[in-house]
Amino acid sequence: MKLTLKIWRQKNATTKGELKTYPIDGVEGDMSFLEMLDVLNEGLINKGEEPVVFDHDCREGICGSCSLQINGEPHGPDRLVTTCQLHMRMFNDGDTIVIEPFRAKAFPVIKDLVVDRSAFDRIQQAGGYISVNTSGNTVDANTIPVNKHDADESFNAATCIGCGACVAACKNASAMLFTSAKVSQFALLPQGRIEATERVLNMVAQMDKEGFGNCSNTGACEIECPKGISLENIARMNREYLSASLKG
Ligand code: SF4
Ligand code: FES
Repeated sequence: MKLTLKIWRQKNATTKGELKTYPIDGVEGDMSFLEMLDVLNEGLINKGEEPVVFDHDCREGICGSCSLQINGEPHGPDRLVTTCQLHMRMFNDGDTIVIEPFRAKAFPVIKDLVVDRSAFDRIQQAGGYISVNTSGNTVDANTIPVNKHDADESFNAATCIGCGACVAACKNASAMLFTSAKVSQFALLPQGRIEATERVLNMVAQMDKEGFGNCSNTGACEIECPKGISLENIARMNREYLSASLKG
């Protein structure tokens, strides 16, 4: 396949960026999107030009770092896949592909296609954990009965990889889907109930402090989420938040 790539190039966080056009040839359908970018970068390096900087790590859909806005969609046109799992067979010979970083005030661009998503780390640090007594009397988590439905729902919420596609998909750049997945993961388990009140209040407060917008109620986040995190989690977080506020 022959393609035309329009890629966001930006030297650093303070300079203005722009879309630059790069023709690329010999792209095969079996290549992943990142492998296609590797080929482009090899060509740029051979010509003495600066390669395009993009985030990646596991290349297996686990780490959540390969976050790209492809033709206006976070992680591109396929469903339930990350950019590293997106195959070039989703595109046609002669296509033009626009590749941009995730756009959100809380995700400032560092360089080219890399954004700073440390706002997510700070939301996690605000309450995305449980405290366990490790004095020698620790109860094995597996001895605490959990009903199957709650265990499954908690596990589903825990599959959020923190990629930020939900934020990039939302017209308000809301982080509700991410935060609600992290709240739900613990709210559904007995081990998570002990700190449940302060967790939801602190995580939502941090989310607001980072500059993420309100939920737009459009459901775009759920559609673009590569892990299928459900809007149910947002409803659960809202219930948790209301009950925590009333207690406070
Ligand atoms: S909820 Fe989905 S889209 Fe949002 S950070 Fe988690 S995995 Fe990514
Ligand atoms: S590189 Fe880890 S999810 Fe894509």
